[in-house]
Amino acid sequence: MTCIHNAMFRTLNAVTLQYYQLTQVTDIADFLTYCQCFHEMVHSHHHHEETYLFTAIEAYSGQKGIMDTSLAQHHAFEEGLERFKEYVYSCKPEDWDREVFKGILESFTLALTKHLREEIPTLLALDIYGGEKLKKAWDDMEKRILDGTMDMYRVLPCGLGSLDVTYAKDQLPPFPFFVPYMCHYWYMRRHRGAWRFSPCTAFGKPKELPFAVVDK
Ligand SMILES: [Fe+2]
Ligand SMILES: [Fe+2]
Repeated sequence: MTCIHNAMFRTLNAVTLQYYQLTQVTDIADFLTYCQCFHEMVHSHHHHEETYLFTAIEAYSGQKGIMDTSLAQHHAFEEGLERFKEYVYSCKPEDWDREVFKGILESFTLALTKHLREEIPTLLALDIYGGEKLKKAWDDMEKRILDGTMDMYRVLPCGLGSLDVTYAKDQLPPFPFFVPYMCHYWYMRRHRGAWRFSPCTAFGKPKELPFAVVDK
């Protein structure tokens, strides 16, 4: 969970650090695609938690409402995230308004980052009900996600491009060694311009953010 939350933090940082400097229509078009993928990542994660993980935790712990605080935190950023989705899917690049985008982005990021931080100790506290039960609930959720339909041209580059292999505290998902190569040489091709905004390469190496302003 920490690895996925950290991926969301990195993607959100990349969005936050780069949007204000965009001026060219082609860059804005690519950025909107990147934001759509960010939305899909955040929405999908929380949707699956609510649908599978939280209900499984309630069932095995026998504690009804045990995840209500996390659920309430989801609701706190839901509306802003929905407006973000509407904007990044419907905005034509030539109509892009960075002040409108700023207002929407800032309307939910505090609630989102608070939740991403606080859900981890909430899950750690569930250890008293059996860590292996939580692991099973997590594995079941992951299986359902992998069994579902995914656009690999969006999910894979966005996801891998948010993993940092140099950050030792992250336990990276155990994917086969060739997946980053497939991503780099094939799946990144369709929306190539969008991955310029990623914080890392498909191989998990942190990279320069081309539109971020660097303090000298
Ligand atoms: Fe989570
Ligand atoms: Fe959550």
